[in-house]
Formats: sequence, structure tokens, C-alpha cells
Amino acid sequence: MRSLFIFPIFHALFLTFLIMSQGTIAQSLINETCKIFAQNDPNIDYNFCTTSLQADPASQTATLQELGKISIRLIKCNVTDTRFYIKNLMKNEKWGSYTKQCLSDCFELFSVAIPSAKKAMKYYSKKLYSDTNVQLSTILDDATTCEDGFKDKKGVVSPLTKRNGDTFQLSAIALSALNMLQTGSN
Ligand SMILES: *[C@@H]1O[C@H](CO)[C@@H](O)[C@H](O)[C@H]1NC(C)=O
Ligand SMILES: *[C@@H]1O[C@H](CO)[C@@H](O)[C@H](O)[C@H]1NC(C)=O
Repeated sequence: MRSLFIFPIFHALFLTFLIMSQGTIAQSLINETCKIFAQNDPNIDYNFCTTSLQADPASQTATLQELGKISIRLIKCNVTDTRFYIKNLMKNEKWGSYTKQCLSDCFELFSVAIPSAKKAMKYYSKKLYSDTNVQLSTILDDATTCEDGFKDKKGVVSPLTKRNGDTFQLSAIALSALNMLQTGSN
């Protein structure tokens, strides 16, 4: 008699606990994973890593595999947005000829980075990790090459430092996830 009454309450409490702990587990997975990434790669900032990953609602049910996917998705959004942003910057007349050339080079680099991000996502979904690695490394290099272009001439300031830095770090995060998955599956 009594158990009939208690059971639904217990059940509801248990469900609540499950749902709450799910969020906590996901958050601590993000935290722990980002901690390891930041320790192994000085280019990865712990706060950038946790903030980026937890912003995606899918991270609430994430595994390491999912976190890798989220970071590749973020890269795809980043490079697509940055290509568009550069295109608009190029319309501005205020740039000197050197900066104009750099922007044009960056536009080419980000135009290539978009299909690379799409390929990375495709390979990653198929667990073709070394192919994914090649694509992600290309994107990381693209952001570096773009930023370095501006540094080659004194007095020139890159208008893309933040964006290149974001793409660089997101790529480093995705590569770290990849490494961890590859090591784990050996
Ligand atoms: C994860 O880290 C953030 C700060 O980086 C902290 O506020 C939060 O409590 C941590 N969560 C867990 C479950 O460890
Ligand atoms: C790129 O990704 C970072 C990290 O998720 C985010 O903070 C930033 O707003 C993104 N930038 C663009 C232009 O989408």
C-alpha cells in the first residue's frame, strides 16, 4: 500500500536527479577535457575552451566524440563568418595597398578553409581521424598564414587578430580531441 504511494515520488526525484547530474557530468567532462587540452597545448586557453564548448546546447549530453564534433562545427561557423567579414572589409577604401593585399590573401585562405572544415566534419563523422587531422591542420595553418601576412610589414595592424586567434584555438582544440580519441582507441 505504502510503496504504491512512495514509488512515484521516488521515481520523480530520481528522474530529477538524473537530469541534473547529466548537466553536471557534461560540465565536468568539458572542464576536465579542457584542462587536459590546455596542459598539453600552450596555445589553448582553458577559459576559451570551456566557454566555446558549453555554448553549444549539444554539449549538455556530450561525450568526447561529441565535443570534437562541436569544435569542428564551431570552426565551420567561424571560418564562414570570417570569410564574409573579410569580403566586407575589402570594400573599404581606407586600407593601404599592403593591407589590401593581405586582406585579399586572407580572403583566399578562408575561402579554402570553408571546404576544409566541411571535409573535416565528413571525415570525423566516419571516424577517419587522420584525414580529419589533415583538414584541421590546414585550417590552423590558414589562420596563421593570414595573421603572419600583416606582421611582415612594420606599422601594419591586422584587423583580423581576434578572428584568426579564435580559428587557431578552435582548430587546436579539435586537434586535441582528435589526438585523445586516437590514443584512446589504440
Ligand atoms: C566547471 O568550471 C567552471 C569554471 O571554469 C566552474 O564554474 C564550474 O563549477 C565547473 N563545473 C564542474 C561541474 O566542475
Ligand atoms: C568563433 O568562435 C568563438 C568560440 O566559439 C566565438 O567566441 C566567436 O564569436 C566566433 N566568431 C565568429 C565570428 O563566429
